Amino acid sequence: MTDVAQFPPGFLWGAATSAYQIEGSPLADGAGPSNWHLFSHRDGTISDASNGDIACDHYRRFGEDIGLMRQLGLQAYRFSLSWSRIFPAGTGKINQKGLDFYRRLLNALLDAGIQPYPTLFHWDLPAALDERGGWTNSDCAHWLADYAQTVFGALGGLAENWTTLNEPWVIADAGFLDGIHAPGHRSLQETPLVAHNLLRAHALAVQAFRAESNGRIGIVVNIEPKYAASDQRGDQTAAERAHAYMNRQYLDPLFLGGYPDELAEVFGDYWPRHNEADMRLLRTPFDFLGVNYYTRSVNRADGNNLPVRASPVAQPGAEYTEMGWEVFPRGLKETLLWIKRRYGDIPLYVTENGAAFKDPPLTAQGRLHDARRVEYYRTHLNACREAIGSGVNLKGYFAWSLFDNFEWSYGYSKRFGLIHVDFDTQKRIFKDSAYFFSEAILSNGASIDSD
Ligand code: FCB
Repeated sequence: MTDVAQFPPGFLWGAATSAYQIEGSPLADGAGPSNWHLFSHRDGTISDASNGDIACDHYRRFGEDIGLMRQLGLQAYRFSLSWSRIFPAGTGKINQKGLDFYRRLLNALLDAGIQPYPTLFHWDLPAALDERGGWTNSDCAHWLADYAQTVFGALGGLAENWTTLNEPWVIADAGFLDGIHAPGHRSLQETPLVAHNLLRAHALAVQAFRAESNGRIGIVVNIEPKYAASDQRGDQTAAERAHAYMNRQYLDPLFLGGYPDELAEVFGDYWPRHNEADMRLLRTPFDFLGVNYYTRSVNRADGNNLPVRASPVAQPGAEYTEMGWEVFPRGLKETLLWIKRRYGDIPLYVTENGAAFKDPPLTAQGRLHDARRVEYYRTHLNACREAIGSGVNLKGYFAWSLFDNFEWSYGYSKRFGLIHVDFDTQKRIFKDSAYFFSEAILSNGASIDSD
């Protein structure tokens, strides 16, 4: 099949955020603290010593923010719910005011004609659950399922499309192996347990959803294609192992019923024996897959079974974002094609894609010319279009992110927004990339080729 010239009619254009990164007011209206609240208040965890106490103040400004979404022409908005607003202690007593906040948000989106794509869990675990072992505790999957059931029962009818988890790999890797995210553990033993419990939680949440709703539900994973630094066998093995660790670890069990063999090499004696009932549970069917794509990595053998993550092999002449991530649009097309080849034709969404660049200062006219981000979007949208042309069932695309926001361990030092946020005044300004994206929406992608 050849590449199509256009995105298909009905292609969905959206932008994404997450609760802890934008909401602020973390303890308002009876909410309990999340593990990210505690983690970011600990010395030395966030590079600019900031936290999410105010962030984009979206908890109080969501009405105004939905106005901006309308101005942009967004058709869909992906955001997450904060579990500890709804269950301050993670389980047990419901905080009605927390549910009410999300009801107001969902209704306001519907009133604005914007389709909500809520995510149940984008990393901010109720701190009380961390005290009970958090994701290392196999009960955590049931805690999430109970929370899910409450949310679906109360709010399920207000959105047709839900996702369970955002990026289980990052939770396990950054939170339990690298220690740079909450809860800040560094344990090779805990990492595969956490990954498995996250996938169990996803499957149980899907089952809870089926009992409450006729809508659609999926999971969001981040996929980073792995290239070998050379043709040498060691480098090839390193790339395969990295691929198994980051990508296939999460999709193989959901679609194919088993974990990749390489993981036993990666984790050695810490690779757990999984029981059959669990493996069956993980195959619970779901309706769509969300793919977050930012970059690829190039891997070299380093005599270590653990896949290299922190120091990918630099590519001469390549462009890198402020995160140190190589700009590699072809990887997005390849990723989408790989998913279809390996896992079948489940409907796909790009649920995050975007870039942090150092933004130029505002001009005297108050414009922000973020040309590199515009180019990033243009090339990656083209990659999506080509993937569609090659037969991928891609239903929509969400830019990361709607706003500059709290970028986890980097605090406010990395700006991913289509909309610039002045964190002193909370003033929002559309960057050039917002205008570019807005035109792309209006023209269903036809405008991305023009200057
Ligand atoms: C993803 C996260 C998102 C944001 C982007 C840059 O891994 O899902 O919250 O931090 O990276």
